[in-house]
Amino acid sequence: MRRRALAAGPSPGAARGGLALAWVDDGKERVRAMSETDAMERAAGLPETMTAVGIEHYGGPDRLELMEMPVPVPAPGEVLVRVHGAGVGIWDVGVRSGHWDMERPLPLVLGLEASGVVFRAGSEDSAFREGDAVIAYLYPLPYQGAYAEYVLAPERYLAPAPTRIGLIEAAALPVAGMTAHLVLTDILDIQPGETVLVTAATGGVGTLAVQMARELGATVVATAGRESSREYLRGLGVEEIVDYHDEDWPARVWELHPGGVDAVLEGAGGTTAERAVAALRDGGRMAALTEDVPSESSRDIRVLPVATEADGERLARISRMVDEGKLEVRVQEVLPLREAARAHELVEARHVHGKIVLDAGAERAA
Ligand SMILES: NC(=O)c1ccc[n+]([C@@H]2O[C@H](COP(=O)([O-])OP(=O)(O)OC[C@H]3O[C@@H](n4cnc5c(N)ncnc54)[C@H](OP(=O)(O)O)[C@@H]3O)[C@@H](O)[C@H]2O)c1
Repeated sequence: MRRRALAAGPSPGAARGGLALAWVDDGKERVRAMSETDAMERAAGLPETMTAVGIEHYGGPDRLELMEMPVPVPAPGEVLVRVHGAGVGIWDVGVRSGHWDMERPLPLVLGLEASGVVFRAGSEDSAFREGDAVIAYLYPLPYQGAYAEYVLAPERYLAPAPTRIGLIEAAALPVAGMTAHLVLTDILDIQPGETVLVTAATGGVGTLAVQMARELGATVVATAGRESSREYLRGLGVEEIVDYHDEDWPARVWELHPGGVDAVLEGAGGTTAERAVAALRDGGRMAALTEDVPSESSRDIRVLPVATEADGERLARISRMVDEGKLEVRVQEVLPLREAARAHELVEARHVHGKIVLDAGAERAA
Protein backbone atom coordinates (compact mmCIF):
# COMPACT_ATOMS: atom_id res chain seq x y z
CA MET A 1 0.00 0.00 0.00
CA ARG A 2 1.40 3.40 -1.02
CA ARG A 3 1.80 5.90 1.79
CA ARG A 4 1.43 9.62 1.26
CA ALA A 5 2.82 12.26 3.47
CA LEU A 6 1.17 14.96 5.45
CA ALA A 7 3.10 17.49 7.49
CA ALA A 8 2.01 19.71 10.34
CA GLY A 9 3.87 22.82 11.38
CA PRO A 10 4.58 26.47 10.64
CA SER A 11 3.88 27.19 7.01
CA PRO A 12 4.42 30.23 4.86
CA GLY A 13 1.01 29.43 3.34
CA ALA A 14 -0.82 29.79 6.64
CA ALA A 15 -2.52 33.02 7.54
CA ARG A 16 -0.34 35.45 9.50
CA GLY A 17 2.39 32.89 10.04
CA GLY A 18 0.06 30.49 11.95
CA LEU A 19 0.22 26.71 11.90
CA ALA A 20 -0.86 24.71 8.90
CA LEU A 21 -1.39 21.11 7.97
CA ALA A 22 0.15 20.37 4.59
CA TRP A 23 -0.62 17.30 2.56
CA VAL A 24 1.81 16.51 -0.24
CA ASP A 25 0.41 14.13 -2.79
CA ASP A 26 2.36 13.21 -5.89
CA GLY A 27 3.59 16.73 -6.33
CA LYS A 28 0.22 18.36 -5.47
CA GLU A 29 0.24 20.20 -2.18
CA ARG A 30 -2.85 20.65 -0.04
CA VAL A 31 -2.67 23.08 2.83
CA ARG A 32 -5.25 23.65 5.54
CA ALA A 33 -4.69 26.48 7.96
CA MET A 34 -5.01 25.49 11.60
CA SER A 35 -7.47 27.62 13.55
CA GLU A 36 -6.53 28.98 16.95
CA THR A 37 -8.83 26.38 18.57
CA ASP A 38 -7.07 23.63 16.62
CA ALA A 39 -3.73 24.88 17.79
CA MET A 40 -4.91 25.07 21.42
CA GLU A 41 -6.35 21.55 21.28
CA ARG A 42 -3.10 20.22 19.95
CA ALA A 43 -1.19 21.99 22.66
CA ALA A 44 -3.57 20.18 25.09
CA GLY A 45 -2.48 16.77 23.86
CA LEU A 46 -4.43 16.14 20.66
CA PRO A 47 -2.12 14.51 18.12
CA GLU A 48 -1.59 16.40 14.88
CA THR A 49 -1.80 13.61 12.40
CA MET A 50 -3.07 10.07 12.10
CA THR A 51 -2.87 7.16 9.72
CA ALA A 52 -5.98 6.38 7.70
CA VAL A 53 -6.97 4.36 4.66
CA GLY A 54 -8.89 6.03 1.89
CA ILE A 55 -9.16 6.81 -1.77
CA GLU A 56 -8.03 9.68 -3.93
CA HIS A 57 -9.59 8.07 -7.03
CA TYR A 58 -12.47 5.64 -7.46
CA GLY A 59 -11.62 2.11 -8.61
CA GLY A 60 -10.51 -1.34 -7.49
CA PRO A 61 -9.06 -2.43 -4.12
CA ASP A 62 -5.64 -1.19 -5.34
CA ARG A 63 -7.02 2.36 -5.05
CA LEU A 64 -7.03 2.07 -1.25
CA GLU A 65 -4.10 4.02 0.12
CA LEU A 66 -2.53 4.63 3.47
CA MET A 67 -2.81 8.35 4.14
CA GLU A 68 -1.53 10.66 6.82
CA MET A 69 -4.39 12.97 7.74
CA PRO A 70 -4.89 15.77 10.26
CA VAL A 71 -6.62 14.58 13.43
CA PRO A 72 -9.93 16.48 13.49
CA VAL A 73 -10.87 18.66 16.44
CA PRO A 74 -14.38 18.08 17.87
CA ALA A 75 -16.81 21.01 18.01
CA PRO A 76 -19.68 21.11 20.54
CA GLY A 77 -22.04 18.21 19.81
CA GLU A 78 -19.22 16.13 18.35
CA VAL A 79 -16.92 13.47 19.76
CA LEU A 80 -13.46 12.42 18.66
CA VAL A 81 -13.07 8.64 18.98
CA ARG A 82 -9.79 6.78 19.05
CA VAL A 83 -10.69 3.90 16.76
CA HIS A 84 -10.09 0.30 17.81
CA GLY A 85 -12.04 -1.51 15.12
CA ALA A 86 -13.61 -0.49 11.81
CA GLY A 87 -16.14 -2.84 10.25
CA VAL A 88 -15.90 -3.56 6.52
CA GLY A 89 -18.89 -4.26 4.30
CA ILE A 90 -19.93 -4.50 0.68
CA TRP A 91 -21.19 -0.88 0.99
CA ASP A 92 -17.54 0.23 1.38
CA VAL A 93 -16.81 -1.49 -1.93
CA GLY A 94 -19.63 0.58 -3.47
CA VAL A 95 -18.06 3.80 -2.16
CA ARG A 96 -14.55 2.80 -3.24
CA SER A 97 -15.60 1.93 -6.78
CA GLY A 98 -17.71 5.10 -7.20
CA HIS A 99 -20.86 2.99 -7.56
CA TRP A 100 -22.39 4.55 -4.45
CA ASP A 101 -22.02 8.34 -4.49
CA MET A 102 -22.15 9.52 -0.88
CA GLU A 103 -21.55 13.07 -2.06
CA ARG A 104 -18.30 13.33 -0.12
CA PRO A 105 -15.22 14.97 -1.63
CA LEU A 106 -12.01 13.07 -2.36
CA PRO A 107 -9.65 12.19 -0.76
CA LEU A 108 -12.08 10.17 1.29
CA VAL A 109 -11.35 7.89 4.23
CA LEU A 110 -13.71 4.90 4.01
CA GLY A 111 -15.64 3.13 6.75
CA LEU A 112 -19.18 3.61 8.07
CA GLU A 113 -18.83 1.89 11.44
CA ALA A 114 -16.37 2.01 14.29
CA SER A 115 -15.67 0.95 17.82
CA GLY A 116 -13.24 2.76 20.06
CA VAL A 117 -12.69 4.97 23.04
CA VAL A 118 -13.71 8.60 23.39
CA PHE A 119 -10.56 10.68 23.08
CA ARG A 120 -12.21 14.07 23.40
CA ALA A 121 -15.77 15.41 23.55
CA GLY A 122 -16.47 18.76 21.92
CA SER A 123 -18.12 20.25 24.99
CA GLU A 124 -18.31 19.82 28.76
CA ASP A 125 -21.99 18.86 28.73
CA SER A 126 -21.47 15.95 26.34
CA ALA A 127 -23.11 12.63 27.31
CA PHE A 128 -19.74 11.01 26.58
CA ARG A 129 -16.57 11.30 28.62
CA GLU A 130 -12.95 10.73 27.75
CA GLY A 131 -12.23 7.00 28.01
CA ASP A 132 -15.82 5.82 27.38
CA ALA A 133 -15.95 2.75 25.13
CA VAL A 134 -18.30 3.50 22.23
CA ILE A 135 -19.59 2.22 18.92
CA ALA A 136 -20.63 4.46 16.02
CA TYR A 137 -22.77 4.11 12.93
CA LEU A 138 -21.52 6.78 10.55
CA TYR A 139 -24.14 7.21 7.86
CA PRO A 140 -24.79 9.81 6.52
CA LEU A 141 -21.01 10.21 6.71
CA PRO A 142 -20.43 13.74 8.01
CA TYR A 143 -16.63 13.96 7.74
CA GLN A 144 -14.06 11.26 7.12
CA GLY A 145 -14.73 7.54 7.68
CA ALA A 146 -13.70 4.96 10.25
CA TYR A 147 -10.69 3.31 8.54
CA ALA A 148 -8.45 5.53 10.64
CA GLU A 149 -6.79 5.91 14.00
CA TYR A 150 -9.33 8.58 14.97
CA VAL A 151 -12.82 9.37 13.75
CA LEU A 152 -14.96 12.44 14.37
CA ALA A 153 -18.70 11.92 14.76
CA PRO A 154 -21.78 13.80 15.89
CA GLU A 155 -22.65 12.66 19.40
CA ARG A 156 -26.05 11.33 18.28
CA TYR A 157 -24.23 8.79 16.05
CA LEU A 158 -22.69 7.06 19.09
CA ALA A 159 -23.74 4.56 21.73
CA PRO A 160 -21.96 2.87 24.62
CA ALA A 161 -20.12 -0.23 23.41
CA PRO A 162 -21.28 -3.57 24.81
CA THR A 163 -19.13 -4.71 27.72
CA ARG A 164 -19.65 -8.44 27.16
CA ILE A 165 -17.47 -8.55 24.03
CA GLY A 166 -14.16 -6.94 23.05
CA LEU A 167 -13.97 -3.63 21.21
CA ILE A 168 -12.70 -5.21 18.00
CA GLU A 169 -15.72 -7.54 17.88
CA ALA A 170 -17.99 -4.60 18.71
CA ALA A 171 -16.97 -2.96 15.42
CA ALA A 172 -19.00 -5.69 13.68
CA LEU A 173 -22.19 -4.44 15.29
CA PRO A 174 -23.23 -0.98 14.03
CA VAL A 175 -24.19 -1.39 10.35
CA ALA A 176 -25.43 -4.97 10.59
CA GLY A 177 -27.16 -4.51 13.94
CA MET A 178 -28.85 -1.24 13.01
CA THR A 179 -30.04 -2.65 9.68
CA ALA A 180 -31.32 -5.95 11.04
CA HIS A 181 -33.14 -4.18 13.89
CA LEU A 182 -34.67 -1.46 11.70
CA VAL A 183 -35.89 -4.03 9.18
CA LEU A 184 -37.35 -6.54 11.63
CA THR A 185 -39.01 -4.03 13.95
CA ASP A 186 -39.97 -0.88 12.01
CA ILE A 187 -40.11 -2.08 8.40
CA LEU A 188 -41.38 -5.66 8.61
CA ASP A 189 -42.98 -5.27 12.06
CA ILE A 190 -42.38 -8.94 12.90
CA GLN A 191 -44.88 -10.38 15.37
CA PRO A 192 -44.48 -13.43 17.63
CA GLY A 193 -45.41 -16.63 15.80
CA GLU A 194 -44.64 -15.28 12.32
CA THR A 195 -42.27 -16.94 9.86
CA VAL A 196 -39.35 -14.95 8.44
CA LEU A 197 -37.08 -15.91 5.57
CA VAL A 198 -33.57 -14.41 5.80
CA THR A 199 -31.43 -14.57 2.65
CA ALA A 200 -27.63 -14.02 2.75
CA ALA A 201 -28.23 -15.26 6.29
CA THR A 202 -24.56 -15.93 7.00
CA GLY A 203 -23.53 -12.33 6.19
CA GLY A 204 -23.15 -9.56 8.74
CA VAL A 205 -26.80 -8.45 8.65
CA GLY A 206 -28.13 -12.01 8.39
CA THR A 207 -26.10 -13.27 11.35
CA LEU A 208 -27.72 -10.72 13.63
CA ALA A 209 -31.12 -10.81 11.90
CA VAL A 210 -31.69 -14.53 12.47
CA GLN A 211 -31.00 -14.04 16.18
CA MET A 212 -33.16 -10.90 16.50
CA ALA A 213 -36.04 -12.53 14.60
CA ARG A 214 -36.01 -15.47 17.02
CA GLU A 215 -35.85 -13.01 19.91
CA LEU A 216 -39.05 -11.43 18.51
CA GLY A 217 -40.69 -14.84 18.65
CA ALA A 218 -40.53 -15.63 14.92
CA THR A 219 -39.58 -18.88 13.21
CA VAL A 220 -36.57 -18.37 10.92
CA VAL A 221 -35.92 -19.96 7.54
CA ALA A 222 -32.52 -19.13 6.05
CA THR A 223 -30.78 -19.54 2.71
CA ALA A 224 -27.20 -20.80 2.45
CA GLY A 225 -25.05 -21.98 -0.44
CA ARG A 226 -22.23 -23.94 1.18
CA GLU A 227 -22.09 -26.72 3.76
CA SER A 228 -19.89 -24.50 5.95
CA SER A 229 -22.66 -21.88 5.82
CA ARG A 230 -25.30 -24.42 6.87
CA GLU A 231 -23.07 -25.47 9.76
CA TYR A 232 -22.54 -21.82 10.72
CA LEU A 233 -26.30 -21.19 10.74
CA ARG A 234 -26.99 -24.32 12.79
CA GLY A 235 -24.46 -22.91 15.29
CA LEU A 236 -26.68 -19.82 15.51
CA GLY A 237 -29.69 -22.02 16.24
CA VAL A 238 -31.23 -21.92 12.74
CA GLU A 239 -32.75 -25.28 11.86
CA GLU A 240 -34.64 -24.56 8.63
CA ILE A 241 -32.10 -23.95 5.87
CA VAL A 242 -32.62 -24.06 2.09
CA ASP A 243 -29.91 -24.10 -0.59
CA TYR A 244 -30.15 -21.06 -2.86
CA HIS A 245 -28.27 -22.96 -5.62
CA ASP A 246 -31.43 -25.05 -6.08
CA GLU A 247 -33.48 -22.92 -8.53
CA ASP A 248 -36.64 -24.22 -6.93
CA TRP A 249 -35.63 -23.22 -3.41
CA PRO A 250 -38.84 -21.21 -2.77
CA ALA A 251 -40.72 -24.51 -3.22
CA ARG A 252 -38.53 -25.98 -0.46
CA VAL A 253 -39.63 -23.05 1.75
CA TRP A 254 -43.28 -23.87 0.98
CA GLU A 255 -42.63 -27.51 1.92
CA LEU A 256 -41.52 -26.24 5.34
CA HIS A 257 -44.26 -23.61 5.56
CA PRO A 258 -47.22 -24.45 3.31
CA GLY A 259 -48.69 -21.25 1.82
CA GLY A 260 -45.38 -19.38 2.23
CA VAL A 261 -43.62 -17.28 4.87
CA ASP A 262 -44.99 -14.06 6.34
CA ALA A 263 -41.94 -11.91 5.67
CA VAL A 264 -38.54 -11.83 3.95
CA LEU A 265 -35.38 -9.95 4.86
CA GLU A 266 -33.66 -10.03 1.47
CA GLY A 267 -29.94 -9.27 1.52
CA ALA A 268 -28.57 -11.23 -1.44
CA GLY A 269 -29.93 -9.42 -4.51
CA GLY A 270 -29.94 -10.83 -8.07
CA THR A 271 -31.93 -13.95 -8.79
CA THR A 272 -32.22 -14.70 -5.07
CA ALA A 273 -34.15 -11.44 -4.64
CA GLU A 274 -36.46 -12.27 -7.55
CA ARG A 275 -37.11 -15.80 -6.32
CA ALA A 276 -37.60 -14.80 -2.69
CA VAL A 277 -40.93 -13.18 -3.62
CA ALA A 278 -42.23 -16.65 -4.51
CA ALA A 279 -41.46 -17.88 -0.99
CA LEU A 280 -43.94 -15.37 0.48
CA ARG A 281 -47.55 -16.00 1.37
CA ASP A 282 -50.30 -13.88 -0.19
CA GLY A 283 -50.19 -10.48 1.50
CA GLY A 284 -46.61 -11.10 2.69
CA ARG A 285 -43.95 -8.42 2.97
CA MET A 286 -40.33 -8.18 1.89
CA ALA A 287 -37.61 -5.75 2.95
CA ALA A 288 -35.09 -5.38 0.10
CA LEU A 289 -31.59 -4.49 1.30
CA THR A 290 -29.93 -4.42 -2.09
CA GLU A 291 -30.59 -2.40 -5.23
CA ASP A 292 -32.44 -5.39 -6.63
CA VAL A 293 -35.93 -4.55 -5.46
CA PRO A 294 -38.33 -6.97 -7.18
CA SER A 295 -41.66 -5.51 -8.27
CA GLU A 296 -44.60 -7.56 -7.06
CA SER A 297 -48.03 -6.11 -7.42
CA SER A 298 -49.87 -9.45 -7.51
CA ARG A 299 -50.85 -11.52 -4.47
CA ASP A 300 -50.97 -8.31 -2.44
CA ILE A 301 -47.27 -8.55 -1.60
CA ARG A 302 -45.43 -5.44 -0.41
CA VAL A 303 -41.73 -4.96 -1.27
CA LEU A 304 -40.16 -2.33 0.94
CA PRO A 305 -36.82 -0.58 0.38
CA VAL A 306 -34.40 -0.08 3.29
CA ALA A 307 -32.16 2.88 4.12
CA THR A 308 -30.47 2.69 7.51
CA GLU A 309 -29.34 5.98 9.06
CA ALA A 310 -27.47 6.96 12.23
CA ASP A 311 -29.56 6.66 15.39
CA GLY A 312 -27.69 6.48 18.70
CA GLU A 313 -30.75 5.31 20.61
CA ARG A 314 -31.32 2.29 18.39
CA LEU A 315 -27.59 1.56 18.49
CA ALA A 316 -27.65 1.65 22.30
CA ARG A 317 -30.55 -0.83 22.31
CA ILE A 318 -28.56 -3.22 20.12
CA SER A 319 -25.51 -2.84 22.35
CA ARG A 320 -27.68 -3.76 25.35
CA MET A 321 -28.98 -6.84 23.53
CA VAL A 322 -25.38 -8.08 23.32
CA ASP A 323 -24.85 -7.46 27.03
CA GLU A 324 -28.11 -9.27 27.83
CA GLY A 325 -26.83 -12.32 25.96
CA LYS A 326 -29.50 -12.00 23.24
CA LEU A 327 -27.06 -11.40 20.37
CA GLU A 328 -23.87 -13.18 19.44
CA VAL A 329 -21.47 -11.17 17.28
CA ARG A 330 -19.41 -13.11 14.76
CA VAL A 331 -16.18 -11.88 13.19
CA GLN A 332 -14.63 -14.08 10.52
CA GLU A 333 -11.33 -12.21 10.31
CA VAL A 334 -9.51 -9.25 11.84
CA LEU A 335 -6.97 -7.52 9.62
CA PRO A 336 -4.68 -4.55 10.24
CA LEU A 337 -5.83 -1.25 8.75
CA ARG A 338 -3.15 -1.44 6.10
CA GLU A 339 -4.69 -4.67 4.75
CA ALA A 340 -7.96 -2.95 3.86
CA ALA A 341 -7.59 -4.05 0.22
CA ARG A 342 -7.59 -7.71 1.32
CA ALA A 343 -10.67 -7.01 3.46
CA HIS A 344 -12.43 -5.53 0.40
CA GLU A 345 -11.55 -8.57 -1.71
CA LEU A 346 -13.08 -10.81 0.95
CA VAL A 347 -16.38 -8.91 1.20
CA GLU A 348 -16.58 -8.55 -2.58
CA ALA A 349 -16.42 -12.35 -2.94
CA ARG A 350 -19.71 -12.43 -0.92
CA HIS A 351 -18.91 -15.48 1.19
CA VAL A 352 -18.09 -13.89 4.52
CA HIS A 353 -19.54 -15.51 7.64
CA GLY A 354 -20.32 -12.61 9.97
CA LYS A 355 -17.97 -9.66 9.49
CA ILE A 356 -14.47 -8.57 8.58
CA VAL A 357 -13.00 -5.98 10.95
CA LEU A 358 -9.96 -3.72 10.52
CA ASP A 359 -7.81 -3.25 13.61
CA ALA A 360 -6.70 0.38 13.88
CA GLY A 361 -4.64 -0.42 16.97
CA ALA A 362 -2.45 -2.69 14.87
CA GLU A 363 -1.49 0.44 12.94
CA ARG A 364 -0.42 2.24 16.10
CA ALA A 365 1.69 -0.76 17.10
CA ALA A 366 3.34 -0.98 13.65
N1 LIG B 1 -30.07 -0.62 2.57
C1 LIG B 1 -29.35 -0.56 3.67
O1 LIG B 1 -29.48 0.37 4.48
C2 LIG B 1 -28.34 -1.64 3.93
C3 LIG B 1 -27.64 -1.64 5.14
C4 LIG B 1 -26.74 -2.68 5.37
C5 LIG B 1 -26.54 -3.67 4.41
N2 LIG B 1 -27.21 -3.59 3.22
C6 LIG B 1 -27.01 -4.62 2.19
O2 LIG B 1 -27.31 -5.89 2.73
C7 LIG B 1 -26.67 -6.88 1.96
C8 LIG B 1 -26.10 -7.94 2.86
O3 LIG B 1 -24.86 -7.53 3.37
P1 LIG B 1 -24.06 -8.41 4.43
O4 LIG B 1 -22.76 -7.76 4.63
O5 LIG B 1 -24.91 -8.69 5.57
O6 LIG B 1 -23.90 -9.82 3.73
P2 LIG B 1 -22.97 -10.33 2.55
O7 LIG B 1 -21.55 -10.31 3.00
O8 LIG B 1 -23.29 -9.62 1.32
O9 LIG B 1 -23.50 -11.82 2.48
C9 LIG B 1 -22.63 -12.89 2.52
C10 LIG B 1 -23.42 -14.17 2.48
O10 LIG B 1 -24.37 -14.18 1.42
C11 LIG B 1 -24.49 -15.48 0.89
N3 LIG B 1 -24.71 -15.36 -0.55
C12 LIG B 1 -23.81 -15.06 -1.51
N4 LIG B 1 -24.42 -15.05 -2.71
C13 LIG B 1 -25.73 -15.35 -2.49
C14 LIG B 1 -26.86 -15.52 -3.32
N5 LIG B 1 -26.79 -15.35 -4.66
N6 LIG B 1 -28.05 -15.83 -2.75
C15 LIG B 1 -28.15 -15.99 -1.40
N7 LIG B 1 -27.11 -15.85 -0.57
C16 LIG B 1 -25.91 -15.54 -1.10
C17 LIG B 1 -23.19 -16.19 1.18
O11 LIG B 1 -23.48 -17.49 1.62
P3 LIG B 1 -22.63 -18.74 1.00
O12 LIG B 1 -21.20 -18.44 1.41
O13 LIG B 1 -23.22 -19.92 1.64
O14 LIG B 1 -22.79 -18.68 -0.49
C18 LIG B 1 -22.50 -15.33 2.24
O15 LIG B 1 -22.21 -16.00 3.44
C19 LIG B 1 -25.64 -6.14 1.10
O16 LIG B 1 -26.12 -6.06 -0.22
C20 LIG B 1 -25.58 -4.77 1.72
O17 LIG B 1 -25.21 -3.77 0.83
C21 LIG B 1 -28.10 -2.60 2.98
